[in-house]
Amino acid sequence: MNNAVAGFSKLSKKEKINWIANEYFSNPEEAQNIIRNYWNTDEKLQQLHDEFIENTITNLYIPLGVAPNFLINGKYKTIPMAIEESSVVAAASKAAKYWSTRGGFKTTIINTEKIGQVHFTYNGDAEKLKSFFEEIKPKFFLETQSITKNMQQRGGGILDIKLKDKRSLLENYYQLHATFETKDSMGANFINSCLEQFASTLKEEARNSDLTESGEAVEVIMSILSNYVPNCLVRAEVSCPIEELAEKHIDDPKEFAERFVQAVQIAEVEPFRAVTHNKGIMNGVDAVILATGNDFRAVEAGVHAYAAKNGQYASLSHAKIEDEIFTFWLEIPLALGTVGGLTSLHPLVKLCLDILEKPSAQELMEIVAVAGLAQNFAALRSLTTTGIQEGHMKMHLNNIINQFEATDEERQLIKTHFKKIAVTHSAVVEFIENLRK
Ligand code: MEV
Repeated sequence: MNNAVAGFSKLSKKEKINWIANEYFSNPEEAQNIIRNYWNTDEKLQQLHDEFIENTITNLYIPLGVAPNFLINGKYKTIPMAIEESSVVAAASKAAKYWSTRGGFKTTIINTEKIGQVHFTYNGDAEKLKSFFEEIKPKFFLETQSITKNMQQRGGGILDIKLKDKRSLLENYYQLHATFETKDSMGANFINSCLEQFASTLKEEARNSDLTESGEAVEVIMSILSNYVPNCLVRAEVSCPIEELAEKHIDDPKEFAERFVQAVQIAEVEPFRAVTHNKGIMNGVDAVILATGNDFRAVEAGVHAYAAKNGQYASLSHAKIEDEIFTFWLEIPLALGTVGGLTSLHPLVKLCLDILEKPSAQELMEIVAVAGLAQNFAALRSLTTTGIQEGHMKMHLNNIINQFEATDEERQLIKTHFKKIAVTHSAVVEFIENLRK
């Protein structure tokens, strides 16, 4: 079948759905029903969602849960999490409760600097370019005044602009490397607008200078923020005397602490393990990022680049035992916003920010880092004690039950049965089949 289509974006929503249903389904009506079942009954709300992107046909739901009892810097928080993976919210809640009686989570904002670059080439004398840059540098600030005015009133703006000589990497390659403070906004639009103005200023000034008088050229390739923000950094930590670690499944706290530290050390030196270890951290991070309307792709890209900053992909978290004290911490770069973008548009995002008591961007960085650390703690605790499958499969039981469209009565019987014995997919299937015989 040839599924190419011309002018799709110009079709009405109904026409788009018709096309999809007829083109890809043997039962188009059934497909249309599924699509419509996920529309919001409030037409205005649906229209709001339709307009977030192009060619919207319906909504894809992800559960929004909350993990309460997070004691962060002495204050309790309930953390909203949007995620489809069965065990994540349960694990976060468990870790939160565990640490709430052991001093809670402590966080520190290390820095909040964002980065943007104008990538360009110049085929003339590097020294001449350097003095030209120093001469015109004030103009970059001057000519972006209309863009930076509001941000400056909020205490942010352009921090610095540097010329970087990158010719060792690529012929004639230079950058304007700029740093920004964007306060409570993620700042992507602000930074990109500033960068595009820097590029115009650079081209205009180069044209009118002796930099290009003998036919040399300044060619701007592109202007864009960087999602790698190693100086927009937050640290989250938990710590307590080893003996206080004791709990159900932790009979010998010293052995637990030592094994836990070893598990972290493995992720510090072994990239295959580090990726999965960090994936567990991102279970917590992404769920809060999504719930608060932030850009999880940007965060993912930046965090993993940070994990590889020493030349080999490694654990984002660390653990140690010193003077009988167990300490577990992580440091991650997070460029987040609590104003602008989806945060003011999406009613559920607004609700989640209200649950978090309208945090500043810095407070949200702290909350997200804590969610990541809690998730990592929960995963390592399971992995080094009972194994991960016990908890996972308990949560997964519901998915299997739903897959088999179990009745309420069957559901009850299945849950009671699997309270006592280990959940495996085949055991549940066998049990359901026997019930139905
Ligand atoms: C599963 O989503 C996450 C874990 O694999 C993380 C880990 O292994 O540390 C459990």
